[in-house]
Amino acid sequence: MTDSTATKRVLSGIQPSGQLHLGNYAGAIRQFVEMQHTHEMYIFVASYHALTSVRDPQTMRQNTRQVVIDYLAFGLDPAKAHIYLQQDVPQVTELAWLLACVCPKHLMDKATSYKDKVDKGIAASIGLYTYPILQAADILSVDPDFVPVGEDQRQHIEITRDLALKFNHAFGTEDDPVFKLPEAMIRADAGVLPGVDGQKMSASYGNFIDPFMAEKPLRKRIMKIVTDSTPVEEAKTPETCTVFQIFRALAGPDDPRTSELAERYRAGGMGYGDAKQALCELILDHFGDARKRREALMDDPGYVDQVLRDGAEAARVKVDEVTSRARAAAGL
Ligand code: TYM
Repeated sequence: MTDSTATKRVLSGIQPSGQLHLGNYAGAIRQFVEMQHTHEMYIFVASYHALTSVRDPQTMRQNTRQVVIDYLAFGLDPAKAHIYLQQDVPQVTELAWLLACVCPKHLMDKATSYKDKVDKGIAASIGLYTYPILQAADILSVDPDFVPVGEDQRQHIEITRDLALKFNHAFGTEDDPVFKLPEAMIRADAGVLPGVDGQKMSASYGNFIDPFMAEKPLRKRIMKIVTDSTPVEEAKTPETCTVFQIFRALAGPDDPRTSELAERYRAGGMGYGDAKQALCELILDHFGDARKRREALMDDPGYVDQVLRDGAEAARVKVDEVTSRARAAAGL
């Protein structure tokens, strides 16, 4: 576990609470796809977390399946990443209980996501309140080094580290800690990607852009992005414009296409409609292969089942090892 030359391990997950969108891609999935070439990957579907908001079993089944298909379409390779469903590795919920018993209540009281979600109309359940403990269990269950996530998950990774420390303090020794402390991996250039209304892009705000949308509705959606009313001929500020922010997150800040578009903003003479066209072309180009792969995957349910069986089998081996270690440390 302390061998610094060993391949580093990564864990992350996404809730199947709606269609995956550009925010998920820019904040998280893009990192998964890049890291799979050099890291040992555990990427799962956080269905138990989604149960805090999804109440329809059919929707749950469909969304869960779709997240897996989309992981694969975006380029996750099951030969390089263990892809699994949370409910196929139930030891994680046992680990959540062990962590809950060392979690001071005030640590949950200060988690901002609970209040945000209740304000948005999600039922104020105990599951929602203790959501960060289950997330800590997901993470700690495979001893990862890194957790690639978007900026909005930073506090959850801090809570995970707090809980690992508390458990280690209660049941481990300095030389032999029970849990390894993982680090959040948050892309500095991604930030929180805005949606068409300029607020954080989110499946539940109805402001998201789905990169798998058919071309015509995709164009219509992009044309809906809210911009200010600076006239065409006047110079514009790229950094404060949602269209540019999404463009830069996808193309990358150092890409020549990004600097070229920024130049056109500053020079004046370009309307926001042109910037939106450029964003649309970028999306179609960037996700061209993913869109084709997704179509093929939709027609191959047997393959998707096999990916999930293999992924769960591999995850269970590792999670069993960690859960047994934690249980034994606590005298169970
Ligand atoms: P979730 O399902 O809301 O989002 C999945 C990932 O997408 C990122 N993300 C964004 N990044 C940038 N801009 C946005 N607008 C945007 N919207 C979403 C999120 O930061 C996240 O990385 N609690 C987690 C799911 C989870 C998890 C875990 C993650 C459960 N257990 C263990 C990592 C490790 C969540 O609700 O993410």
